Amino acid sequence: VKKIAVLTSGGDSQGMNAAVRAVVRSGLFHGLEVFAVQRGYAGLINDDIREMDLRSVGDIIQRGGTILQTARCKEFMTPEGQQLGADNLRKRGIDGLVVIGGDGSYQGANKLSKLGIKTMGLPGTIDNDIPFTDLTIGFDTAVSIVVDAINKLRDTMSSHERSSVVEVMGRHCGDIALYAGLASGAETILVPEVPYDLDEIAQRMSDNFAQGKRHSIIIVAEGVGKGEDIAQEITRRNGIEPRVTVLGHIQRGGTPTHNDRILAGQLGDFAVRKLIEGESGKSCGIIKGELVLTDIDKVVNTKKEFNLELYELAKRLSQ
Ligand code: F6P
Repeated sequence: VKKIAVLTSGGDSQGMNAAVRAVVRSGLFHGLEVFAVQRGYAGLINDDIREMDLRSVGDIIQRGGTILQTARCKEFMTPEGQQLGADNLRKRGIDGLVVIGGDGSYQGANKLSKLGIKTMGLPGTIDNDIPFTDLTIGFDTAVSIVVDAINKLRDTMSSHERSSVVEVMGRHCGDIALYAGLASGAETILVPEVPYDLDEIAQRMSDNFAQGKRHSIIIVAEGVGKGEDIAQEITRRNGIEPRVTVLGHIQRGGTPTHNDRILAGQLGDFAVRKLIEGESGKSCGIIKGELVLTDIDKVVNTKKEFNLELYELAKRLSQ
């Protein structure tokens, strides 16, 4: 490849800017011409593409959001939309594309790869729901935000001897709930991957309060249901009225942690080097500290394995 482009797509995540910077700077370092597509696949269809230089990505490593903006684009799901996108790249001589995003974005990259554009996927989502990588870009920051919020909730919960239900993001994946729950000492972690028993949870809560616990935190991944509904179900069973906090899009903003910035740098540079070596249709990941490539086809058709060991550990430690 001689000319490559980069885009961000789907829900944004902290560290996307650091990843864009890495792709642009690594591409220029290796003598490529580098372009950026604005607003994800929508920009690809609308031909919103510009050339980047070293300075175009200055002062962004620390910023949340994505300077390239992002969109969830329905038109790109059609074969016509995909063809138009590929044509817009080709007319500029761009033959490589790095897509930074989650599951849906990967599907688009896969289609473009089948249309002859060399594509690389970088896992950019707070959900950590992409398989064949231990971590996605943004996950570490999102978990830190949740842990910070729970620290604050604990203060007021223990003053009032109250219980708190915290609803976090994660439509199909409970990783944010699991990692933040473990790190913040939540008593109960509800995730879509593991069935739960509200009778047992409500009973344990009453017992804990009776035995002198001063607060109780229940963390709920949005894929399980609404925090408000869980709180009502608990009240119905044991009379305790938990306060509900929905963290929402706060989890997707703010400055990325150093872990996310470093991951973004490693994966962005890896994607560029692999494109130069002629790879295409691959997802870049990190497993046990080692950079790995996996067929996007395989990634989009595999469900990420849930870490039951950590889940059990959280249970053991939160009694
Ligand atoms: O995929 C990332 C994510 O933040 C999910 O956790 C959440 O369900 C979804 O995006 C929210 O999407 P939107 O920003 O479109 O409301």
